[in-house]
Amino acid sequence: MWPVGFLPLLLLVAIWVTQSQSSPPPLTHQIHLLRPLSGSAGEAVYGLSCLSWRLGVETHNVIGWSTIPGKCEGYVGHYMLGHQYRADSKVDVWIFDTDETSLSNLPYYARHGFGVEKYNSTLFNAWVEEGKAPALPETLRLYKKLQSLGIKPVFITGRTEDQRNVTKSNLLRAGYHSWEKLVLKASSYPTAVAYKSSQREQIEKSGYRIIGNIGDQWSDLLGSHAGNRTFKLPDPMYYIS
Ligand SMILES: *[C@@H]1O[C@H](CO)[C@@H](O)[C@H](O)[C@H]1NC(C)=O
Ligand SMILES: *[C@@H]1O[C@H](CO)[C@@H](O)[C@H](O)[C@H]1NC(C)=O
Ligand SMILES: *[C@@H]1O[C@H](CO)[C@@H](O)[C@H](O)[C@H]1NC(C)=O
Ligand SMILES: [Mg+2]
Repeated sequence: MWPVGFLPLLLLVAIWVTQSQSSPPPLTHQIHLLRPLSGSAGEAVYGLSCLSWRLGVETHNVIGWSTIPGKCEGYVGHYMLGHQYRADSKVDVWIFDTDETSLSNLPYYARHGFGVEKYNSTLFNAWVEEGKAPALPETLRLYKKLQSLGIKPVFITGRTEDQRNVTKSNLLRAGYHSWEKLVLKASSYPTAVAYKSSQREQIEKSGYRIIGNIGDQWSDLLGSHAGNRTFKLPDPMYYIS
């Protein structure tokens, strides 16, 4: 026999364990208050669980249906008012840096020289203003592949806001025909890492999921909100921190 005092203690421990399990973070811009769970995914309808029914209707395997089967109403309601619906509604994006990633300034460097002592910002900006930088072909191929998979491109560049028009027309001319966002630098930041991290954070906060990120500088890929996979392109010409 257990001592008399044991059962209440067991109950207390059970309550503590339940309460200390981490709950998901609060939803930003909550659409509606969460509804307590009623109706479980395992509830059977037409011999299917509600989870299988939902998969079936989303994949068009169950056709000709008009509304939720009664038994699954609680399950669907909970899904719609919960975190999973919001997570499933996020759009997957891929971050592309611009110079020496999406666009190549090789024609400029080939003409003017590759070393830092050859760099002349007046001449380089004049080249940028021409809007004639070709695509880095490997990046353009990746861009097209990702688009075919439904992953949206987002360009984040260290180019400044006053270069938006020429950057836009240059990207179009080089074969980048559409994008979700084109982010240019609108104010100054202590480092490129700080700038790019803060822009990526804003992108995630506005409901996107960054699944990949490619750039020629480590500052494109380090810092926070870097994305699920990062890819470093070669650039032995210069280093931006
Ligand atoms: C940069 O190029 C411009 C135009 O050719 C020239 O006037 C200027 O002196 C150059 N600047 C430097 C630092 O070489
Ligand atoms: C950029 O283009 C828009 C419309 O195409 C125009 O209104 C704007 O003046 C342009 N900005 C610059 C800096 O050229
Ligand atoms: C992708 O990155 C996000 C944000 O850092 C993270 O929450 C998530 O677990 C990652 N997903 C995978 C499959 O690694
Ligand atoms: Mg770059």
